[in-house]
Amino acid sequence: MKIDLSLIGMEKGRQYETIITTKNCDNTYNAAPIGVICSAPDRIVNRIFKGSHTLDNIIREREFIVNITHDVEVFTISTIENLPQDYFGDGGTLKCGDAFFKCEVISLKEAVKQSDPIKKKDEAIVIKAQVTELVIKNNTKAFNRGFSYVVETLANFTRFDLADDNKKEDYINKFREAYRVTRKVGTADDKKAMTIIKKELENRGYEP
Ligand SMILES: Cc1cc2nc3c(=O)[nH]c(=O)nc-3n(C[C@H](O)[C@H](O)[C@H](O)COP(=O)(O)O)c2cc1C
Repeated sequence: MKIDLSLIGMEKGRQYETIITTKNCDNTYNAAPIGVICSAPDRIVNRIFKGSHTLDNIIREREFIVNITHDVEVFTISTIENLPQDYFGDGGTLKCGDAFFKCEVISLKEAVKQSDPIKKKDEAIVIKAQVTELVIKNNTKAFNRGFSYVVETLANFTRFDLADDNKKEDYINKFREAYRVTRKVGTADDKKAMTIIKKELENRGYEP
């Protein structure tokens, strides 16, 4: 069957938050949350910082698995420590995953674009990969941070006029960060929503 990432809600050019699982050199598995950009129905791109197990494993094995899950516990544990082996199922997929796809590396290149507010450009590798198999266990959509940011920003927006000056400044900074991230990873609708909120803040005399 033809591979089509739109079946799990992935649109070309958008970034989704996934859990990438890879094989360690001792044949155990590793998991880490990693942003994945859909570049074609059967291709993805990601940018992984040097020093992570995930990057070392991908460079060595030239393959990895992208798992689609909304399991917040797995996101948390795999960010902070090593996910225990009993979370992994067949071939290193996540047991809790609603879908997964297998990827083979097409190319590995030093990152040239600086788009991370903290880390430097030469600390990351951009990986282009071919999707070789897509397995959908449950009807699901890959998670995009844009919608969460819009909802969070709307919640803050309703509190703006009630806040003191310090808190207003805090909300403005939060808005700027949400706007930056949404421009980078959100859908067209998320960006449109953030533009509407920005204009309304401006109408009310703020400088978001
Ligand atoms: C939602 C989310 C998305 C992330 N995306 C990336 C990413 O795209 N690239 C990256 O290098 N790190 C990313 N990280 C950070 C890694 O997951 C984190 O550094 C992790 O500890 C690496 O684990 P590892 O050493 O087992 O590979 C992300 C973290 C979170 C929570």
